[in-house]
This record gives sequence, C-alpha cells and structure tokens, in this order.
Amino acid sequence: MSEVNKSSNLKTTKTAKTKSRVKPITVTVEPKISVLLVGSEATPFIKTGGLADVLGSLPVSLAEKDLDVRVILPLYGGMEEGFKNHLTYVTNFNVPVGWRNQYCGLFYYKRKNVTFYFLDNEYYFKRENLYGYYDDGERFAFFSRAVLETMSHLEYYPDIMHCHDWQAALAVVYLKTVYADRPAYQGIKSLFTIHNIEYQGRYPHDDITDLFGLDPKYIPALDYSGGLNLMKGALVFSDYVSTVSSSYADEILSSEYACGLEYAVNDAKNKLCGIVNGIDVKAFNPETDGAIFKNYTADDLSGKEVCKAELQKLLNLPVKKDVPVIAMISRLVPHKGLDLVRQVLERILSLDVQVVILGKGDVEYENYFAYMSEVYKGKLKAIIAYNKDLSSKIYSGADLFLMPSRSEPCGLSQMIAARYGAVPIVRRTGGLRDTITPYNETKVSGNGFAFNDYNAEGMLRVIEEAAETYKDKETFAKIVKEAMTTDFSWKKSASEYEKLYLKLKND
Ligand code: GLC
Repeated sequence: MSEVNKSSNLKTTKTAKTKSRVKPITVTVEPKISVLLVGSEATPFIKTGGLADVLGSLPVSLAEKDLDVRVILPLYGGMEEGFKNHLTYVTNFNVPVGWRNQYCGLFYYKRKNVTFYFLDNEYYFKRENLYGYYDDGERFAFFSRAVLETMSHLEYYPDIMHCHDWQAALAVVYLKTVYADRPAYQGIKSLFTIHNIEYQGRYPHDDITDLFGLDPKYIPALDYSGGLNLMKGALVFSDYVSTVSSSYADEILSSEYACGLEYAVNDAKNKLCGIVNGIDVKAFNPETDGAIFKNYTADDLSGKEVCKAELQKLLNLPVKKDVPVIAMISRLVPHKGLDLVRQVLERILSLDVQVVILGKGDVEYENYFAYMSEVYKGKLKAIIAYNKDLSSKIYSGADLFLMPSRSEPCGLSQMIAARYGAVPIVRRTGGLRDTITPYNETKVSGNGFAFNDYNAEGMLRVIEEAAETYKDKETFAKIVKEAMTTDFSWKKSASEYEKLYLKLKND
C-alpha cells in the first residue's frame, strides 16, 4: 500500500483559521491491481473462436475500471496485417523448451489502455492455422514458458496471472514448479479459466521432461488416465479456477459435461466459480453496425424490417414480411446440437418459416446442409462459410435465432442475436441457461425461448411455440424489446473478476 502526501496541492481556503493549523491531508492510494491475461487468441488481432472475443473485450472493461491490464499472446503469421505492421519491438531472449533453447521476440501493441504483448517465434507460430499440428504441445509449452520469462525481462510481476484454456495451462504449472523458488514470482497468484473443457491438451508421460521441461516427480499432478493432461495440471496448481458461466461451473462437476475431467474438477471444487461472459456491446450494436442494411434501435424497429427484406433478397428467399426467419450461425460441430436439427429439419421446414444457416465445420454437416439447401430452395438457405459481414446481416434480418447446443460453456451468439432483436431459441445448458430467460406467458416476460432436454422433439415443440408466438405481433414485440435491452455488457462480470482478483491478491 503506498501513501501519497497530497499536502503540497492543498490550497488555503477562507474557512481555514490559520495557515499553520491546516493539517496536511494524507490520501491513501491503493496501488492498481495488475493482471496479465494469458491466452492464445484475441480480437481484433486474431480469432478462431469465442475465446478471442473474451480476450479482446474483457481486458478493455477491466482497464476502464482502472486496473493495470496486459494481455500476452503468440505472434501468429495469420495476425491481421493492420496490426502486424504496427507492433513495437521490445527485446528478445531465449526460452528453454525441454532440453532446447528457442528464440523469442517480444513486441507490444497498446489498445484502449491495454498493453497486448506478442511472443514471436516463426518456427512455432508462422503457420497456416493456429492449432492442429503434431507439435502443438511443444508450441504451447514454448509459449507458456516464454510468458514467465517475459516477466523477468520486463521486470514486471503482476499480482494476478490469469490463464485461459489449455494453451496457457502450463504457465500456471510452471509458476508453481519451475519458478516456485524465485522470490520475484512468489507474489503472483494464478487464476485459470476454462472456456471449454473439451480441449484439454493430452500428451504421453514421456513428454514430461524432454518437451515440458518438468521434473518427472510432477507426473502424478498432471496425470490423467495414463497420460499428461495440461488442463488438469492447471486445475491442480492454480490458486483459483473459473469458468464462463455459473451453470457450466456446476455442469463440469459431472461426467456428462466434463469430458473425463470430472474428478479433477471435483478436487478443485472449493476454488471454482462461474463468471458469465459479456459481449462488446459497442461492436455489436444495430444502431451503429455499418455492415447491416439499415440501422435500428429497440425503440424503432423499422430498420430491422428493411434488414429482413434485404436479407431475404440477398439469399434468394421470397420476401415475406410475416414469415419468421430462423437463423443459425455456428461452427458446424456436434456439440452445437446439429444432430437435433438434422433429425427434425424437414418438420421445421414444413412450418411457415424460413431457415438460414451460416457456418463451417465438419464436412458431414457441411454437405448435409448444402444438400438440403438445394432441395428446399426458397425455404432454407445454408451458406457454408465463416463471414463476419454476412453474420451481421443475418443477425439483423432474422426474427429467431436457434442455438440448441448439447453443451455451451457460455456462448456469445445468443447474446449478439438478442442484441439485434433475433430472439434466441436455446437449449437450457451452460451460459445459454444463464443468459436467456424463456418467455413466460403469464408474466409476459422473457428474452427468448428454451427447452430443457437434449431431445429433437422437445426442440421442435419450442420452435413451433416460437413460430406461433411470432404471429401474435404484440407479444412478440415485447420479447424482442426485452431481448434487445437485456444488459449483456461486461460491466457486471468485469466487476466480478475484479473482486476475485482482489480476493486472490489479498489471500
Ligand atoms: C468457448 C466456448 C463458448 C464460450 C467461449 C468464450 O468457445 O465453447 O461457449 O462462449 O469459449 O468463453
């Protein structure tokens, strides 16, 4: 705690009896909490999934609360050119990776009061994709180790090292093992956030020393089902664990959701919490979004009607004002609930609705939706692509947004859809449960529709209910308004992180 004597700034006022009696005012200033967020992707620099949105927008909200916030990421070859050419070089050093020493360049970019550091090693990160290589374990061991090395080169030791997902899990492990004896590191508390427990980073026991540079005595701590599991290691060594919604924090205690890690999650139960993600409400705003056909607000939806008609034209769907457009924007992978959609798609299409699907993913789903889109021309349009501009046009033109995930740690699309007045239809799981309140006929309130069990019939019933409710213009308008005005900003969640950081710092 630092004491700042502000007496020199004190002006003598008329109420002060004599100059000498004015006591110097001593203002106690708490030093800012310093936090380093560690992860593998962040918008607007590089993105493959929701993790990037969080690492791009959460730090900005934390900085607005006057925390010292920095983020550290790998410097990928695929980073947006506009940023890549404007990085500032800081230094370079060598990083031990198992028995090797690898070059690491350190750069930074300052954005909205947040310093983003980038760790450069072209051999590891100048590749076509971010993940999916035989040596991913080595790449992220390098990254994690380089994060800790960066601290000593900058002489910057944050109060909190906040690591995200398996790619940053080893940073937590290193802090409490390799670096445990170094005094400068001893004050650092670690928080590990699970964005998706499906991806854990699993490697053979044999990699412990050669690849990860750890003493074999740590095998038991990282061991899971006969191999090393990096996420499990982070669960063991971190001071606290969080995940991206309270419901998901409960769910991952059970085998149904924990993808084999339920025992480790249960062991960490006393240091586990859920903090729901926010979205960047400035970026996702129908009032200002330049990609949509006409801007609109919750109070004046006339622009949304234009967006719908233009979307229908663009996608060769009949321009029909009174037929609800149901959209899905999703990675086409199993946990997004696509098998439910497949089971009843023809029955959904037999309703008076239009369906729009945008996404890429497993070839099997891509082929299926592309085929059905040909068969049901004028009712269903599937675009097999990842297209940010088109996604804004779809969010703004759609009436309903389907997200029937089998599991969903948080989910961001349902919040974005709600903000654009595309009423979410979700399965009540994880963050979908925590952000969408099903419409309640008696209370005439709710910001969406929801079903409980992972079951196609249940989903179909709710889609039918939503399509029916859509016909009742007055009721539907109320749901749209509630969806659009629900507070999905980071404000509340950033405060929860701040409280957690403070608690950890003072523990
Ligand atoms: C992962 C999860 C998703 C979550 C995102 C950001 O992508 O699957 O549900 O919204 O991380 O936390």
